[in-house]
Amino acid sequence: MDHDHVREVDPAVADALEGEVDRQRSTLQMIASENHVSEAVVDAQGSVLTNKYAEGYPGSRYYGGCEYADEVEELAIERATELFGAEHVNVQPHSGTQANQAVYFAMLEPGDKILSLDLNHGGHLSHGHPANFVGQLYEVEQYEVDPETGYLDYEGLAEHAEEFEPDVIVSGYSAYPREIEWERIQEAADSVGAYHLADIAHITGLVAAGVHPSPVGIADFVTGSTHKTIRSGRGGIVMCDEEYADDIDSAVFPGGQGGPLMHNVAGKAVGFKEALEPEFEEYAEQTVANAEALGERLAENGFSLVSGGTDNHLVLVDLRESHPDTSGGDAEEALEEAGIVLNGNTVPGETRSPFDPSGIRAGTPALTTRGFDEDDCRTVADLITRVIDDPEDESVLEEVRAEVADLCEANPLYE
Ligand SMILES: Cc1ncc(COP(=O)(O)O)c(C=O)c1O
Repeated sequence: MDHDHVREVDPAVADALEGEVDRQRSTLQMIASENHVSEAVVDAQGSVLTNKYAEGYPGSRYYGGCEYADEVEELAIERATELFGAEHVNVQPHSGTQANQAVYFAMLEPGDKILSLDLNHGGHLSHGHPANFVGQLYEVEQYEVDPETGYLDYEGLAEHAEEFEPDVIVSGYSAYPREIEWERIQEAADSVGAYHLADIAHITGLVAAGVHPSPVGIADFVTGSTHKTIRSGRGGIVMCDEEYADDIDSAVFPGGQGGPLMHNVAGKAVGFKEALEPEFEEYAEQTVANAEALGERLAENGFSLVSGGTDNHLVLVDLRESHPDTSGGDAEEALEEAGIVLNGNTVPGETRSPFDPSGIRAGTPALTTRGFDEDDCRTVADLITRVIDDPEDESVLEEVRAEVADLCEANPLYE
């Protein structure tokens, strides 16, 4: 992976790009929302489609010269349709956040009501946090996971919906390690006449591979990010039934966005093609098996896992019981020094703050892409344990760094 053209023009940026390639190669990427796309996806995203304005949709653009843009977008739509089985797909959202915003803009009036999961319990800013305009434009109330079990409290959610009478219920989460029962949320939405938006940002790849149940055909709207577990071009996607197709398309463009990022749409098309291959299903299964192995070993090592384990690609560790003096932020910092990159995360019943939370979130999508199996993930769990047991011991950090380097060498990336 070279950056020769950049280097000729801008050595400072070339140095940073090469530094980033090296960082990804030589450290463990365990941020649950990240992955390593293929070189084919990198190529597509780095293509001259970045030059092209293609406002509108295939066959109906505001500018000329769109024949290849049309071809690429049609391929992305075709493949997404095959992967997810939705009646209508819009592949233009610049991000998962903008996919969600398009649904709100299409279906809600300012002041309408959104019921979504609390951020500290695994929700996302774009589900109505006051720091996002969604939280300022609409009236938002939040449901929570069961504090005892860490599982979604479906009955509590239904009761909350009866009281609040939301216009939309949002499901799909950033830090929820368990399978989501879409039908139960749909029932709660139906019982109060609300729309159901299922945001599969994190689990788009698991859903595409059939490793997690799909909300398509159940929820009214399904949104996602296209660069997390599905490792295609960076951005978002919205799926819905034909009856909402025009509303959604107009909400994406011109409602919320200008020209689509056609190079990213090309990256989505290529990544979706890869996700249609049988190997992708194996990858998704391995991602989940790896997260299970990671979680089990962390639990054996004395850590407390929210919900006791995982059904998907991530584990959420509550450090308060096992390591009361170590915050998620402290753990994140020490682990990064040792070459393990993950994030401090809030946990249900959070007693610290989002800036220095009580937990860590660890995901296996990127490790699995570079070939890690369950044994490797148990080794990683042991390395994480050593660091968090002694976050300030330089010799421990050095030893772990050396073991991380061995794991990386055994599972090379972007050769
Ligand atoms: C549940 C959920 N929705 C939406 C998003 C936003 O995705 P993006 O970063 O593509 O805007 C995220 C990001 O992690 C997420 O976890």
